[in-house]
Amino acid sequence: MILCKLACLLNVLVSDPTDSVVVSIGGSILVPGNNDSEYIARLAEMLKGLADGTRLAVVCGGGKTARYYAEVGGALGGDTYQLDILGIGATRLNAQLLSLALGDMPDRVPETVEETAEKAAPGRIAVMGGTEPGHTTDAVAAMVAKAMKADRIVNATSVDAVYTDDPRKNPEAKRIPRMTVSQLGDIVYKEHGASKSSVFDPLGVRIAKENRVDIMMVDGRDLVELRKAILGQEFNGTFVDSH
Ligand code: UTP
Repeated sequence: MILCKLACLLNVLVSDPTDSVVVSIGGSILVPGNNDSEYIARLAEMLKGLADGTRLAVVCGGGKTARYYAEVGGALGGDTYQLDILGIGATRLNAQLLSLALGDMPDRVPETVEETAEKAAPGRIAVMGGTEPGHTTDAVAAMVAKAMKADRIVNATSVDAVYTDDPRKNPEAKRIPRMTVSQLGDIVYKEHGASKSSVFDPLGVRIAKENRVDIMMVDGRDLVELRKAILGQEFNGTFVDSH
């Protein structure tokens, strides 16, 4: 009993109080096609401001660039595997752009989950794109979160929350401020037929659920709310509870 208490106390004393967070940033908000450099510069400043107190990894999506290559590659007869490879290239290009804004552009961004998890440390933000064909960067973010034993995944997208229906098509659609990971699983698996382009990659939802990592869905263009979500504070969006 005494030994057990001592072990618990030691655990508290040596445990790292720093939060570990993985940000999955949608390519469509990273490279919107108008004020790209201004937004990326502000995003980088905000992230750098959090770096000392947080173990932070950022996974970048492919956005318009990925869609362009998927379309043109498809028209040229590319198969799913080849189009995924093109998509991964676009995500890595975006990761390099964000790295440049963070003042640390490598010749090659980390290409594996392990490399990123190892690199992320207080004061050092790890930035990557995709890994291999068959999923999206949301799933990569969940894999990095698992490897880092992260406290949360922040999904920064162009949609400001999860809705009961597609708000662009249905004006009656209601925002869902809080839900369980199982409810999110129901949405991504049942309603979207496990499409990897649903609100969050179904594989990512499964990994988050299995590893009890919460997911915060937030509008990535709103840097005030994004910052709050990264810090684990109350934010405007959807909190997906995985506990
Ligand atoms: P994204 O993660 O940007 O996919 O990767 P997405 O969900 O389609 O984009 P958003 O979130 O709506 O902006 C772009 C594409 O790159 C390939 C997939 O084809 C994906 O659709 N990809 C990406 C992979 O095959 N593996 C990866 O690890 C990452």
